Amino acid sequence: MTGVDQQALIAAARAAATRAYAPYSNFHVGAALAFADGSIVTGANVENASYGLTLCAETSAVAQAMNTGARGGLLAVAVIGGMNGAAGPVVTPCGRCRQVLNELAQLGGTDPVIWCVGEGEVLELKLSELLPHAFGPASLI
Ligand code: THU
Repeated sequence: MTGVDQQALIAAARAAATRAYAPYSNFHVGAALAFADGSIVTGANVENASYGLTLCAETSAVAQAMNTGARGGLLAVAVIGGMNGAAGPVVTPCGRCRQVLNELAQLGGTDPVIWCVGEGEVLELKLSELLPHAFGPASLI
């Protein structure tokens, strides 16, 4: 049990996805981060005409949170996405986003639950399952 309201976090991720800037893939993704102080921070994917410079929703959310001072306390993450905002298969964080999420999580010593949302389905995984044996701030001591 995370103590985090799963439905509320998924709703926040779904709302964030409506703000995606994804004119190239048309794949709209939203991510919501839940913190130990009860706060929720969201992000959406931000694409770029130079396609490889695209920022994923999870990375945007982590940047948003860290820019407001977050340095840990990450308890749960919800990720949702689909073509033109429609529901579809579960969306799991890409490899880069797993590493970016790990930075924030490891700073606070948490192993957040990741709710990967699809149509009528939520795949629940710990970050440590998505990114086992992670390299992070704790490795640089
Ligand atoms: N995307 C995310 O925002 N998060 C993920 O975890 C997977 C992929 C975005 C990147 C790109 O804008 C679009 O989805 C298609 O790959």
